[in-house]
Amino acid sequence: MIGNFTYYTPTKLCFGKDCIKDLPGVIGRYGRNVLLTYGGGSIKKMGLYDRVKELLKDFNIVELSGIEPNPKYDPSVITGARLCKENNIDVILSVGGGSVLDCSKAISACAKYDGEGWDLISSKVKAKEALPVVDIITLAATGSEYDAGCVISNTAINDKRGYMDDHLYPVASFLDPEYTFSVNKWQTACGTADAINHVLEQFFADPHSTFNDGVMISALRSLMTNVKIALETPDDYAARSELMYVCSWGCNGILSNGAGYSGWPMHSIEHALSAYFDITHGAGLAIITPRWMREILSDKTIERFVTLGVELFGFDKALPDTDMAEKVIEEFYRFFESIGIPMHLGELGVKAESIEEMADHILENDSTNEPWMYAPLDKNALIRILSASM
Ligand code: NZQ
Ligand code: ZN
Repeated sequence: MIGNFTYYTPTKLCFGKDCIKDLPGVIGRYGRNVLLTYGGGSIKKMGLYDRVKELLKDFNIVELSGIEPNPKYDPSVITGARLCKENNIDVILSVGGGSVLDCSKAISACAKYDGEGWDLISSKVKAKEALPVVDIITLAATGSEYDAGCVISNTAINDKRGYMDDHLYPVASFLDPEYTFSVNKWQTACGTADAINHVLEQFFADPHSTFNDGVMISALRSLMTNVKIALETPDDYAARSELMYVCSWGCNGILSNGAGYSGWPMHSIEHALSAYFDITHGAGLAIITPRWMREILSDKTIERFVTLGVELFGFDKALPDTDMAEKVIEEFYRFFESIGIPMHLGELGVKAESIEEMADHILENDSTNEPWMYAPLDKNALIRILSASM
């Protein structure tokens, strides 16, 4: 069944080799004063920084560099918002991965707000406006380039918040797969694991439809096949282009229009993990996924496992449903392991003694136990998932 929905993604997506040649025309629509945001230097190593500076030689550029993975409210968002106000910035150009883009989106809203920016990010206050954001995305993972969300950490209060607002859609996103050739094996694997999880958060929902199932299974197949190729041959354009395009569909709803909303419980759990231990988002999700699947396996959910078993993995339809579900869980575990993700949180530095506190934090900030959710998780369930993931 396709239920009621509204779909709105006003981002201009420019895809392909050297698509960034159109950057000056697109940026010029919004003004001459540009805040150029980037991370720890990958864009300089791959020559993208020089190319952007050359393309934008007629613009006034102010730079904010050093934006961290798991971007921080303090200093990055606060500094960026101040730079925008001081320099009369018209448009933000984000060049980098999802962290740089998320930080830029948060800056875009905070730059137009006179109060404490965290009030916007924590959704206490609704933004009335935001600066336009254009991005060149260099890592296939989050889908931030095609969605209205950003995820920001506040280390002072051990919090990592997903902030959604229609003002946060980038006005234009440039996706050139060649700029992802330099992404190392770890980030390639983690980025793909993130995108796989985005699909699964939407697949495990009720109602669902044959159409959406087909699109999502196709997305999973593409991600799982092409990541292996990209890990082996980092400059394989065909593989990198599929990863990049499929990842961009992850979080704007297009995969699940008309389906139920699950509440994205694995993301709630992972955001607590990276708030407490600053781990890589996709790695945390990969580790949680099979443990979460085992926790939610029930008469209600088993049909989803069977569909994945038959349609994605090609298992024999005659298998008993419970065997099929076990095989699906095992298959995801082995897949993540095969792309190089350590499958235990302890290996990423997570400490077992924080599990109970994190479970409380998740319930307080992300409410994973709402009755409308596809598979609500109470405190004991969260503790079981986290403990099994250690
Ligand atoms: O900082 P630099 O030097 O640029 O290096 C980055 C960083 O160290 C590097 N990198 C990026 N592009 C590269 C590259 N290295 C070589 N070549 C390139 N082309 O990769 C490292 C990780 O970058 P990051 O931006 O942190 O990764 P990702 O894109 O996976 O973003 C992760 C963040 O996005 C959030 C996560 O929680 C996390 O904070 N998410 C955002 C979402 C959204 N806005 O919709 C949804 C997701 O579920 C997710 O929560
Ligand atoms: Zn994610």
